[in-house]
Parts: sequence; C-alpha cells; structure tokens
Amino acid sequence: MKDFLTYHHCKSFPQLLDSPMKCGEPSKSEKVFLLLAIKSSPANYEHREAVRKTWGAEKTFNGVNIKRIFLSGIPKPEREGKRIMQLLNIESQMYNDVLQWEFYDTFYNLTLKQVLFLTWLEANCPGAQFIFSGDDDVFVNIKNVVIYLKGQGKAGSKQHHFVGALNIGMPPVREPYSKYYVPQQLFNETSFVPYCGGGGIIMSGFTACSIFKASQNIPLFPIDDAYLGMCLKKAGLKPENHEGIRTFGIQLPAVDSFDPCYHREMLVVHRFVPYEMLVMWKFLQLTELNCTKKSSGKPPK
Ligand SMILES: *[C@@H]1O[C@H](CO)[C@@H](O)[C@H](O)[C@H]1NC(C)=O
Ligand SMILES: *[C@@H]1O[C@H](CO)[C@@H](O)[C@H](O)[C@H]1NC(C)=O
Ligand SMILES: *[C@@H]1O[C@H](CO)[C@@H](O)[C@H](O)[C@H]1NC(C)=O
Repeated sequence: MKDFLTYHHCKSFPQLLDSPMKCGEPSKSEKVFLLLAIKSSPANYEHREAVRKTWGAEKTFNGVNIKRIFLSGIPKPEREGKRIMQLLNIESQMYNDVLQWEFYDTFYNLTLKQVLFLTWLEANCPGAQFIFSGDDDVFVNIKNVVIYLKGQGKAGSKQHHFVGALNIGMPPVREPYSKYYVPQQLFNETSFVPYCGGGGIIMSGFTACSIFKASQNIPLFPIDDAYLGMCLKKAGLKPENHEGIRTFGIQLPAVDSFDPCYHREMLVVHRFVPYEMLVMWKFLQLTELNCTKKSSGKPPK
C-alpha cells in the first residue's frame, strides 16, 4: 500500500512490447468487432497459451472480426524475472499479441494496467466496437458473447454498454493483511460505487472512450474494477449486471462446475486452469451436447 501511495500519481510508463497494428490502421479499426483485452501477469505463460488455443483465437466468427491482446507489466526482479521477460518477448514475436509496460505487474498496479490499456486503445484501436476486459483464468463462451453483442444492433457500439457481475454497496476491505486492503486514509466511504467484477467485463467502444476520458481526472485507486466504477460514475454512466457473467466478487468461492451444459448458456465464467480451458472448449465444440433441461441460470450442484 505504501508502494501504491508513492506511485499512484504516475500514469505513464515506458512501453516495452507493442502491437500497434493489432486493429489495422487506427482510422479503420471499426472493422474490429470485439477486442479481447486480457490481463495476464508475465509468468502466466500456460494461461496465455490455453487462451490462444481456445476462446481467445483470433478469427472471423459469424461474420465478425475478433482480436486478442494480453496486457502485462514486468516481473519483480527475482531469479526467474529475466527469463520471463525473454519469454514474453518471444511470445510477442510469435503471436503479436502482447502489450507490456515497465511497471511491476502486481495486484495494486492493475488499475495502472487498465488505464495504460485505455490510452493504447484510444491511440491504436479507437474504432473497436466492443471490448472484453478480463483475466487470463476465465472461460469465455465466445459464440454466446458474439450472439449477444450482435443483438445490440448496428448502433450498439456507439451507445453506452457495460456489463459484468455487478457489485452494489460493496464495502472496502479494512484488514491490512488482505490482498484487497483499502486504508481509510485513501478511501473513507463505507462502500464502493456500483462496479462490475474485473474478471470479465464487456463494454462498448463508446463506453471505453468515456471511461478513458473520465480517468484523466481521477487519481489511480488500488482496486481496478472499483476504479472503473468510479470512472463510470464520473461519466454519468451505470454498470449493469449480466446473468451470464459469473466472475464472483472477492470472497465467494469459485462455483465453476465443469458441466458443459451449464457453460453452454454462459458468457464468462472464472477460475479455469489451462487444461480445463482446453477440455471445456472441446466439449463445447461437440454441437450435439445432450443437455436434458435448459439450465435455470443457476450453477448445477
Ligand atoms: C507499481 O509499479 C511501479 C513501477 O514498477 C513500482 O515501483 C511499484 O512498486 C508498483 N506498485 C505496487 C503497489 O506494486
Ligand atoms: C473518516 O471519516 C470519519 C467520519 O467522517 C472521520 O472521523 C475520520 O477522521 C476519517 N478518517 C480519515 C482517515 O480520514
Ligand atoms: C445423446 O443421446 C442420444 C440418445 O440418448 C444418444 O444416442 C447420443 O449418442 C447422445 N449423444 C451424445 C453426444 O452423447
């Protein structure tokens, strides 16, 4: 936290890895229907590989164009740090899907990651119609996401749209040893403004731009998803809940049943280890899944 407070006014860091043509010419970037922006710590190589092979594959799907980018900082200077940096370099050359900035990739720096990404987005891919922002251990049912977003109509990307697992009246954690600790000196309210859990959020290009503008006047805050909520509020916009996005808040245990019939109806579900992503992906490719009843939207036992 002390570290956070020392640095929380710094919003610009040198960029080490880039993919400036990810969306083609910026002025033509509206060709990108969905940009998957996945927060990934440098060491999470297996997660990135699994995402690339499954839901994060870049392709044209149902006539729309999907692009993928991983957002990363730098590893702490530990023994493996140098090799991990080399690894990211290699990945960037192989797949052209890594943005890396020179800040330590830690939990309290996730807000910085979001803000730097939004800055990159405005410069390099301002036309992207929709943006998925999420973790590298979620499973995205990309087919459902595309169907859902296509359902927003032609003007959908130019209107406000921000959905995820909504938290209302969430109190900040005051235990100094918690990962989510927020000291009173930094935030003295009893609850956060409404926000969607950062594991998986879907927003329109319009909303991403509005958040970016609002963020210019809001100091960084250690909890990245709550920060996005603050930006929305400043922009006069509201986050919304989507039943199909199951990235539970901070204390709840993962309810990640492995029943493919459950996932068939979801958009985003969290906590998958890499091999599970592959297995679930294969399951969902088998079109004739024998799902006896339509799931009620509740996780099965
Ligand atoms: C965020 O990154 C900066 C730059 O590397 C680092 O000095 C700082 O300690 C990091 N902050 C936290 C809270 O880890
Ligand atoms: C937080 O607010 C309370 C009540 O308004 C006040 O008494 C207290 O001094 C504040 N604490 C800090 C650290 O600002
Ligand atoms: C689905 O059920 C039918 C009849 O019970 C069975 O013949 C078929 O093999 C099943 N398909 C799969 C993919 O399990």
